[in-house]
Amino acid sequence: MKLVVVAGARPNFMKIAPLMWEIRRRTDIGAHLVHTGQHYDERMSRLFFEELGIPRPDVDLGVGSGSHAVQTAEVMRRFEPVVLEQQPDAIVVVGDVNSTIACALTAVKLGVPVAHVEAGLRSFDRTMPEEINRILTDAISQWLFVTEPSGLANLRREGVAEDRIFLVGNVMIDTLLACRELSRRSTIRDDLRLTGRPFGVLTLHRPANVDDPDVLAGILAAIGQLQRELPIVFPVHPRTRKALEGHDLAAMPGLIVTEPLGYLDFMKLLAEARLVLTDSGGIQEETTVLGVPCLTLRNNTERPITIDQGTNLLVGLDARRIVAAARTAMSEPSRAGRIPDLWDGRAAARIVDILTGTRTSPPS
Ligand code: UD1
Repeated sequence: MKLVVVAGARPNFMKIAPLMWEIRRRTDIGAHLVHTGQHYDERMSRLFFEELGIPRPDVDLGVGSGSHAVQTAEVMRRFEPVVLEQQPDAIVVVGDVNSTIACALTAVKLGVPVAHVEAGLRSFDRTMPEEINRILTDAISQWLFVTEPSGLANLRREGVAEDRIFLVGNVMIDTLLACRELSRRSTIRDDLRLTGRPFGVLTLHRPANVDDPDVLAGILAAIGQLQRELPIVFPVHPRTRKALEGHDLAAMPGLIVTEPLGYLDFMKLLAEARLVLTDSGGIQEETTVLGVPCLTLRNNTERPITIDQGTNLLVGLDARRIVAAARTAMSEPSRAGRIPDLWDGRAAARIVDILTGTRTSPPS
């Protein structure tokens, strides 16, 4: 079987890594790896390929940044000749970024079936660009590989045929588990002078949080208070860096601002943090597996299992509520979560088994 595997933006890279490792191990399947170039900075892209042992992409479409329409259209325009030339049996897309829907739509119109990894998640918030990408990608995919039971329920409610849906676990957690030992050895905690001191981690990049000056100011007001009580490491996403221009972060000595971090350093910090504040989707899942309290700075999540079973708490965007929730998390013993079923490091193997026909039904 010949696949074209697509990755475009930072959160895609840790999801394709275990698929590429699994494909490399097997003789019945091969993959042509396409990087769309949606993310292109060294620290948003190449670093992850190196750290995670992902093969160099066979092709880089180099689309770069742009409005949603421009970026999506440009990926489609540049991806079409690749599909025509490669004539794959299927293409694999992961997650919910613009590259995901752009490549899925291109392939399906050429008659090439699409496998969507991380299907079925829904925030029910159609103002999120990712929610539109999820709904559309799922609607045109042949194989829907689901991470958690809410995904099954969402797809069934949308009328997707049972034989297209597979609950397989979480490829991003495959990567987390495979890299635990390596990430433990990262020196980042010493480098940031946090050895022996409790600390928090903050990430922010959702347009709804960072592009709206009032929302951003509210979040920063909360962080301004918390950094007096706990040092907080804040690796800054490029979108957020622009939004922060004009804000005086130097007035917050407890806020440790860094460039975007590599995967191993970031996992080291997440695993050892007293508390994580984030608007990311993936970090809600990673903290659940690591057993670290996560306060999600959003009003919804497409990953409800991280709340029902894991360590995640939706705290919204109100500064007082964020501070109160963080103080509670700092003063009380961590809520013992449990690791969701099938988040066991074997999701990529299940996916490849299903794609090659070695396995036809979901695991029991
Ligand atoms: C994208 C995804 C989002 C994902 C996030 C993770 C979509 C719609 N959004 O959002 O789901 O959670 O990636 O990071 O696909 N930029 C750089 N260097 C880069 C990449 C981006 O400087 O390597 C800057 C550019 O100014 C760009 C901005 O960041 O305009 C936003 O990048 P973009 O890819 O449009 O969206 P993200 O906010 O990164």
